Amino acid sequence: MPMRTATAADLDAIMALEHASFPADAWSPAMMREELVSPHGWYVVVEEGGRLLGYAGLRAVRGAKDADIQTITIAETARGRGRGRALLTALLDEAVRRAVHEVFLEVRADNPVARALYVSEGFVDVGRRPRYYQPDDVDAIVMQLDLRGWAARRAEDASDSVAAPTTGKGWC
Ligand SMILES: CC(C)(COP(=O)(O)OP(=O)(O)OC[C@H]1O[C@@H](n2cnc3c(N)ncnc32)[C@H](O)[C@@H]1OP(=O)(O)O)[C@@H](O)C(=O)NCCC(=O)NCCS
Repeated sequence: MPMRTATAADLDAIMALEHASFPADAWSPAMMREELVSPHGWYVVVEEGGRLLGYAGLRAVRGAKDADIQTITIAETARGRGRGRALLTALLDEAVRRAVHEVFLEVRADNPVARALYVSEGFVDVGRRPRYYQPDDVDAIVMQLDLRGWAARRAEDASDSVAAPTTGKGWC
């Protein structure tokens, strides 16, 4: 999956997707630009055929033990094919490189798809912010991930897949 670090040159394409994905509460271009150039941030994009299909951002202040998933979005026509998980995994890998211990995020209570993705990576609910998303009046669920546990599970899964015995007939 063609993924790369985002730069300020991606701002226009990211903002187009931001408005399409979050019509009620899109960030401003100035806020997004700050995110893209901040030394504490790390953004990735996925693109195919020269078209930006998604982006995601981490905020991890150098030296801090906690970090935040700031945003993650896949274009509507490109959803459901593993790209969202790939972006999230890339952010978590970067957090591991930055020696983070805990990752936090906020997600709309009425977003079961995103919540299912986060739960499947090991995030757990740790709080609720009533009516956080305005003007929609929707609660935010605060979620937390023990990153060292996530990294250990990932390493174990990788070694299992290498060590798995080949009992089938192979290609059919
Ligand atoms: C949330 C989002 C990034 C997921 O990206 P995606 O590429 O569609 O997701 P993936 O194909 O990688 O699927 C990852 C997991 O998400 C969940 N998921 C994906 N599509 C789903 C659906 N239609 N219904 C329920 N769960 C779904 C599943 O847990 C899935 O894991 P599985 O494939 O092992 O079952 C994408 O739906 C999106 O951009 N939504 C709009 C913006 C948004 O809500 N961002 C999150 C803000 S907190």
